[in-house]
Amino acid sequence: MFASPAETQARLESAGYFTDIKVATGVFLAASIHRPILLEGPAGAGKTELASSTARTLCVPLLRLQCYQGIDEEKAIGQYDRSLQELYVLLMSRSTQTPDWPRIKREITSRAYFMAGPLLEAIEQEDPCVLLIDEIDKVDYAFEAMLLELLSVWALSIPRMGTVRATSIPLVFLTSNQERRLGDPLRRRCFYLVVEHPNAEREAAIVARHTPHVGAATHRFIAGLAKSLRAYTLEKPPSISEMNDVAMAMELLGIDQILPADKEIMLPLIAKTEGDRKRLLMKEAFESIVRMAAKYAEQIPKVSPGEDVKVLAESEIG
Ligand SMILES: Nc1ncnc2c1ncn2[C@@H]1O[C@H](COP(=O)(O)OP(=O)(O)OP(=O)(O)O)[C@@H](O)[C@H]1O
Ligand SMILES: [Mg+2]
Repeated sequence: MFASPAETQARLESAGYFTDIKVATGVFLAASIHRPILLEGPAGAGKTELASSTARTLCVPLLRLQCYQGIDEEKAIGQYDRSLQELYVLLMSRSTQTPDWPRIKREITSRAYFMAGPLLEAIEQEDPCVLLIDEIDKVDYAFEAMLLELLSVWALSIPRMGTVRATSIPLVFLTSNQERRLGDPLRRRCFYLVVEHPNAEREAAIVARHTPHVGAATHRFIAGLAKSLRAYTLEKPPSISEMNDVAMAMELLGIDQILPADKEIMLPLIAKTEGDRKRLLMKEAFESIVRMAAKYAEQIPKVSPGEDVKVLAESEIG
């Protein structure tokens, strides 16, 4: 699938996913020796995006199981097509010959009468695909236990049909926001990667990819703003998505700097709880965040030496 950790990192980057060599090495190894990857880390740090970018990079399908409280095996593995089963039984019972009931029973519990869910679909692919089991921390222990068979022997047991073995082994990503601690048997079977918020330089590159028409100095300022906001005590520190939103807002509003007076414009984009809004509305809070953002932005290396630098000077912030 991938040739080396560095090649994995470079290919992910060309698909729009910027990551460090540690994560790229984890993906390279997991893909090479068929291990699932368990991704944990803050909300919006890029866990789900890593799986979809990997699929894009490899040009393979992405099959996704979105987990939620109460999800059952039918949603994940699939279920028999009851109307098709009933139709078959009806046709057989109406036929002129005496129905061969054991044969009919075998027939309607065969693969042809089973509608595959994402897990079964993934292991039935002719060539390996990427399987994303998103937000696994939302499921209960019984569902987690069901996944162990898939993740260790690459097979699924289907009631009345038997065991279906994998035609190809998918590259599996499981993501978790740590709402519940996952069991040790599941953890043992996976490579464990922590996806953190990117450093400021990488964040500037991510925002630049998202808003290519915005100037490089603005990208650096936004990355500095992210760092500054994350260093501030907030209930929901902003993720890359929020910073991409800030960049798009700046582009739409035709501004290349955020001044303290822009507080009310920016708050809906960066403060996502009432508590955080209040914190940022406190006297001098936003002003000091913007001032720190400009300082952090200055520390980010410039993409090209000759570019038109317009980093916010402290005097401009007031
Ligand atoms: N390393 C990255 N490179 C490029 N874009 C990224 C990266 N990480 C995150 N993003 C951007 O941030 C968005 C949010 O990322 P994603 O949905 O993967 O976060 P998450 O960790 O799955 O969050 P949650 O825990 O809320 O599900 C992505 O849609 C993508 O636009
Ligand atoms: Mg996610």
